[in-house]
Amino acid sequence: MGYPNPSHGRETPVLSKYFGDPEARTLAGWRARGGYESLEKALGMDPVEIQTMVKDSGLRGRGGAGFPTGIKWSFMRPDGKTHYLCCNADESEPGTFKDREIMRWTPHGLVEGVALGAHAIYAETAYIYIRGEFTEPIARVTAAVEEAYAAGILGANAMGTGRRLDVHVHRGAGAYICGEETALMNSLEGRRGNPRIKPPFPAVAGLFGQPTTINNVETLTAVPYIIKHGADWYQGLGRDDNPKSRGTKLFSVCGNISRPGNYEVTMGFPFGEFLNELCGGALPGREIKAVIPGGSSVPILTREEAEGALMDYEGMVAAGTMLGSGGVIVFDDKQDMVKQIARLARFYAHESCAQCSQCREGTAWTTRILERIAAGDGHARDFDTLLSIGENMSGKTICVLSDSCATPVASGLKKFRHEFEAKLGPDRSRGVVPVMLTTNRSAVA
Ligand SMILES: Cc1cc2nc3c(=O)[nH]c(=O)nc-3n(C[C@H](O)[C@H](O)[C@H](O)COP(=O)(O)O)c2cc1C
Ligand code: SF4
Repeated sequence: MGYPNPSHGRETPVLSKYFGDPEARTLAGWRARGGYESLEKALGMDPVEIQTMVKDSGLRGRGGAGFPTGIKWSFMRPDGKTHYLCCNADESEPGTFKDREIMRWTPHGLVEGVALGAHAIYAETAYIYIRGEFTEPIARVTAAVEEAYAAGILGANAMGTGRRLDVHVHRGAGAYICGEETALMNSLEGRRGNPRIKPPFPAVAGLFGQPTTINNVETLTAVPYIIKHGADWYQGLGRDDNPKSRGTKLFSVCGNISRPGNYEVTMGFPFGEFLNELCGGALPGREIKAVIPGGSSVPILTREEAEGALMDYEGMVAAGTMLGSGGVIVFDDKQDMVKQIARLARFYAHESCAQCSQCREGTAWTTRILERIAAGDGHARDFDTLLSIGENMSGKTICVLSDSCATPVASGLKKFRHEFEAKLGPDRSRGVVPVMLTTNRSAVA
């Protein structure tokens, strides 16, 4: 069955070029489209040369934090230790579904990027950790890995180079927290998927205590194109006045929008044109009210703020938010922002691994208060309580899941306070009405 390949002339499809093309899924089809040429070339290059090329391209991690990929790879030096590459395909951030489409349509593109990345960091073994619910992507990537082994691309003599390259597919068990890189490694090791305290950083002591690099699916899939077309080509994609964000980026768009889906544009694309032209704007008779531009953990923008923003790391910071994972969630004028934010908070409370008290208690209390306000039983003092809980949840925990819950709440309260105030209950002096809430204590994969 076909996939509505979003091609509006304004996109720059590099990673998404073959979305909707079933023939690109097979090894023969991928090779016919130039697949594995970059891996072959890269296996003839020194890893430091690849690291430098990726550094020069300006590629930054697409998993959310935007750390420069070439610099991350340069932490890995030949030291006689076993190195590992982990590909983070746990994609569970609400509103984000780009990695899923890469795996569904171009699984060999990912396998090529993973094999290339492993060589670039002096690793023989790579793991692709895929979100457990991703049944079709798991099947597609597994089939691609099997085909690559059968063709001698992977294995003891990868592409006839005499070098060993192994890629293993691991299925997660449905815990959002296992997308956090150290939780992912714990989960791969068969432990409970709890984030680890850093340092030590994964490049020093990661999977099985060995130097490890963790990269997102989109990041790794972009690398073969950089090897093929050169660092300068990638550097050439983006707005002229921002050398810090280069290349293309996949954005997943969902919510109250005419044409939801995945769109690939160059960094710095005007967000107003993106929403109103590429994505078709609001549904008929409605108006966009708010936008979360980078997955559910970044500050919410009003429509006006979003329409004036530029879609790259710095452009989003200038607009008061973050590019994050590129998951764009659109809310229109029919939506109740209090309910929507309460729903996000409940997600984080459910997914908290519960190691840190600020996160375990903070996400739970935030949810209780928001749900009570949403039910029309709030008190004005709840707003200060929410902000104070949020402050105590930010920058104080083992990982940033805690901050991710506090951030949309604080920005939502600031920008849509009138909606919160409209929900204050008749008895404004009432205290907290407890509701049942559970955290996810089964984050084991
Ligand atoms: C709670 C939480 C969940 C995360 N989930 C993902 C995820 O599903 N996929 C991903 O690539 N990164 C995720 N990350 C970010 C990873 O920890 C890590 O930064 C990323 O995989 C690094 O890859 P990159 O440098 O290629 O972006 C998550 C982080 C946190 C704190
Ligand atoms: S911040 Fe939350 S999810 Fe992260 S380690 Fe602490 S309790 Fe677990």
